[in-house]
Amino acid sequence: MFRTIKDIQFKGRRTLIRVDFNVPLDKSLNITDDTRIRAAVPTLKHIVEQGGRLIIMSHLGRPKGGPEPKYSMKPVLKRLGELLGKSVQFAGDCVGDEATRMARGLKDGEVLLLENLRFHAEEEKNDPTFSKALASLGEIYVSDAFGTAHRAHASTAGIADYLPAYAGFLMEKEITYLSKVTSSPERPMVAIMGGAKVSDKILVIENLLKKVDSLLIGGGMAYTFLKAQGKEIGKSLCEIDQLEIAKKIMDSANKGGKKLVLPTDVTVASEIKEGVAVKTVSVDAIPANEMGLDIGPKSIDLFIAELSKAKTVLWNGPMGVFETKPFDIGTRKIAEALTKLKAVTVVGGGDSVAAIEQMGAAEKVTHVSTGGGACLEFLEGKILPGIEIFSRDIKNMC
Ligand code: 3PG
Repeated sequence: MFRTIKDIQFKGRRTLIRVDFNVPLDKSLNITDDTRIRAAVPTLKHIVEQGGRLIIMSHLGRPKGGPEPKYSMKPVLKRLGELLGKSVQFAGDCVGDEATRMARGLKDGEVLLLENLRFHAEEEKNDPTFSKALASLGEIYVSDAFGTAHRAHASTAGIADYLPAYAGFLMEKEITYLSKVTSSPERPMVAIMGGAKVSDKILVIENLLKKVDSLLIGGGMAYTFLKAQGKEIGKSLCEIDQLEIAKKIMDSANKGGKKLVLPTDVTVASEIKEGVAVKTVSVDAIPANEMGLDIGPKSIDLFIAELSKAKTVLWNGPMGVFETKPFDIGTRKIAEALTKLKAVTVVGGGDSVAAIEQMGAAEKVTHVSTGGGACLEFLEGKILPGIEIFSRDIKNMC
């Protein structure tokens, strides 16, 4: 059980909210993707509409513990105002006299955005004095920063020693769906994993193997598994140091009665370039001087047939080099198939999220996670510091 904003009234109360507005910016500091801001809007509006006095804090980028103009929260200010339909005040520092005066001066329904938390090295050090200084700005603490929940920082973890922590709607949704797929999935449960490297996903694969009925593996990581089966994979991506691990995974799937499905055919080319000559070959016939860059049509059919049986699906990682045509076909077809399933469909982790959004299919699946690293660590089975806080005993608060 964890506390959420449904458990509390905000009228007249200074509410300090941690969001993850770590949005991508171009060279002119224009926001190129505002998904993370939009994702927090329902929580922000809920608090404001109740008459809460809202103080918003976030990090942006990875400044080196001091102010750097290119990482200022200012570009977020305008977009936030547009999305909330009201003007938002701005404090040039997240702690100190100005932030305190502005926070205390807020009237019901007013909104204040603080400058980047990571302009203070104490944030990432989870420094208790800094946590306390942040906490002093509010009376209630809310977190909707799922994307940063794997970081034990002052504003995501330490602060909950000083203020009771409540999960916002986005955080609640992330926890609910990611828990559903990892703890109590409706069966059959199928996970489909992709992405370049086995080493990046090894802990996720190991954890998911305990939960799934079938595990489908595509993307660059599939070639390490194929090589571990003794196949010749030409110039395809292969992590030699992960071959033993790949063998162990296949072995434990076998022993545990889990179905581990690898591609049976792949699209190969001599280089990753749009317009390059491509062909589809069986995984038993990958030419020595070419590399597999996408799953082939038979593999797509095989994967879709498996997915069609599922009541719960988790997708993490693209099936090929989807940024370069025509190696986007496998990823597109899987994204399309997901939108047609009568199942709980959850998409998690940076690249598969980018892929499903690029294809305009994000609205048609049950949940698309806003977390990259946080989502992966959740799927690894870790208890994230930015989530543990919602069930912390508030009686023992400093
Ligand atoms: C993210 O983009 O994954 C989060 O905002 C966390 O950012 P970080 O990796 O710089 O901590």
